[in-house]
Amino acid sequence: MNILTIIGSPRKKGNTYQTVKELEEKMKKLGDYEFEYLYLKDSHLEDCRGCFSCISKGIEFCPLKDDLELIEEKMEEADGLILASPVYVMTVSALLKKFIDREAYLCHRPKYHGKKALVLSTTGGVGAKETMNYMEMVIKAWGYQTVDKCGIITAPWPATQNLKKKNNSILEKSAQKFSKSLKSVDNKKFDKIKVGFKDYLSFRIFQEISSDVKKYMPADYQFYQDKEYYQPAKIGILTRMLTVIILRVVFFIMRDMGPADGK
Ligand SMILES: Cc1cc2nc3c(=O)[nH]c(=O)nc-3n(C[C@H](O)[C@H](O)[C@H](O)COP(=O)(O)O)c2cc1C
Repeated sequence: MNILTIIGSPRKKGNTYQTVKELEEKMKKLGDYEFEYLYLKDSHLEDCRGCFSCISKGIEFCPLKDDLELIEEKMEEADGLILASPVYVMTVSALLKKFIDREAYLCHRPKYHGKKALVLSTTGGVGAKETMNYMEMVIKAWGYQTVDKCGIITAPWPATQNLKKKNNSILEKSAQKFSKSLKSVDNKKFDKIKVGFKDYLSFRIFQEISSDVKKYMPADYQFYQDKEYYQPAKIGILTRMLTVIILRVVFFIMRDMGPADGK
């Protein structure tokens, strides 16, 4: 199986890379895994100009022509993703944030449902939890299921034996969880997934909004029209019924947010 690792650190062979390398070694003991490293530092990615075209009209209307499409192709081809970033001032690196901003449209029209991911962060001491929660939230919106969050402390001085042991055990557990999860996808590739209430509600909110504002968000409208869910799915009757009720409440609360000129 192919694992794409996106390294968000500006230090190509820094702590984040070294940590993913350790994880790679552990995973290779558990299965037949090929790792590809994609360094955002070496990728040609322009800063988002904020034109909103990717979100409203479609990614093909983005005026920036760079490596974004190539990165997306690699994400599409890979069986799993490792998204890795150092903690820089309590959040992801600027390089990773730039990439996330360029993929903003994926939060409206996700295309990686059914794919598994692991988020990894290295830190001098604090901020890994917040950083990884943010990364998980973003890639969930792109469709990924985050199997595990792997936070490793890499202080700027020699690590104690205890810290080394602790880091090793965190990496060991992450490797096992990720490997187990990737293997389960392989066995169930053609199964319909069972969708939980929260995920279905979120899908239906996007679907309803896209229909209400289709003049302003034609790409979303096209994407959500005629879809039952993002991927082949089993949606329980109770989930459907509860969603209808909650949708009414949500749209009542949001009644002032629609366009002034109607649909
Ligand atoms: C600009 C910058 C900001 C940082 N901010 C934090 C921080 O907020 N909290 C923390 O514990 N460590 C912080 N660190 C330490 C890094 O998170 C840590 O050294 C990390 O392992 C670096 O990974 P890298 O070598 O892949 O860049 C910071 C380091 C740099 C260079």
